[in-house]
Amino acid sequence: MSNVAEQIEQDAFLDVENLRVSFNTDEGVILAVDGISFSVKRGQTLGIVGESGSGKSVSTKAVMQLLPRTAIIDKDSSIKWHRDNGEIAEITELHKSGRVMRRIRGGEIGMIFQEPMSSFSPVHTIGNQIIEAVLEHRQVKKSEAREIAIDMLDKVGISNPSVRVDQYSFELSGGMRQRAMIAVALSMNPALLIADAPTTSLDVTIQAQILELMNRLQEELGMAIIFITHNLGVIAQVADEVEVMYLGRILERGTAREIIHQQQHPYTQALLRAIPHLDRLGERLTAISGDIPSPLERPTGCPFHTRCEQVIPGLCDIQDPGLTQISSTHSVHCFLHEERDVRNLT
Ligand SMILES: Nc1ncnc2c1ncn2[C@@H]1O[C@H](COP(=O)(O)OP(=O)(O)O)[C@@H](O)[C@H]1O
Ligand SMILES: [Mg+2]
Repeated sequence: MSNVAEQIEQDAFLDVENLRVSFNTDEGVILAVDGISFSVKRGQTLGIVGESGSGKSVSTKAVMQLLPRTAIIDKDSSIKWHRDNGEIAEITELHKSGRVMRRIRGGEIGMIFQEPMSSFSPVHTIGNQIIEAVLEHRQVKKSEAREIAIDMLDKVGISNPSVRVDQYSFELSGGMRQRAMIAVALSMNPALLIADAPTTSLDVTIQAQILELMNRLQEELGMAIIFITHNLGVIAQVADEVEVMYLGRILERGTAREIIHQQQHPYTQALLRAIPHLDRLGERLTAISGDIPSPLERPTGCPFHTRCEQVIPGLCDIQDPGLTQISSTHSVHCFLHEERDVRNLT
């Protein structure tokens, strides 16, 4: 094993191997996540990017055991979580509502969602919801939990936190509610935070503030983040490493720099062209041409071949492209790059 590979293995504390998730529906079986592997290192931000329906939420909900009962996780899938106490938990084998999973969910791995409204109870104050969560996951008295709540609201940039703590979520603006939701997740002091499209519903200025806030909190608190978005431009501002998902597969992965400046997959290139630019507002975006295939009719070969401008007929529509390593951190599944494999050159 190379030094680089060893280093990655040592630092990774979430290890997902060959994750396959399908749903039984009335129309048939939907393969939502098709055998993906990824890992997250302590203190780092992994960005997951891809259009709607690519399996970003399903794969991270599997980590939290938050999938509905109709979801089937393949028996060869593995999700290893290195706990604070040194134990390694195989999440796929834990009981969904058992003691260990309840500790991990929220306490060790926090999650924030796209819809802050639905994650707050309308009948409890913001403060009470943070206090409940803190009392469940940390050994502190109620008065201390209230202090933690006020401190967290302050940390996420909510003004007058000692007043806001006694307000209800509907009394806050969209941006403030998003901040409050981050405060709830962070007050449990998780080692990993999964942020699923946390800025999508916000206007551009508030999006930028939230991203800056998350960067700052990560530095202060030292947690790792999985940041999920369909906007590659947002990823550039937060992620260390990026994986690009499409129809349940990871098509390309690399450092944020490699994905933004040296992206290899035609799908990543198309995503990049679809980023809205502030200086080009009003101009029409180049949307990726063609429709995303129905998950009930997955294409054979490369899943992107039906929309790819550089498709090689007779190859991409039939065979699965293997993994091509571009650098020690950068890899792609695409026939256009197979001859460029550097593994055999050194
Ligand atoms: N509860 C469900 N039942 C059936 N199919 C689902 C369910 N949840 C998600 N899917 C399907 O799984 C695929 C991946 O969905 P998702 O992970 O939510 O995509 P993303 O988060 O990337 O937008 C989609 O085709 C979606 O329709
Ligand atoms: Mg989603």
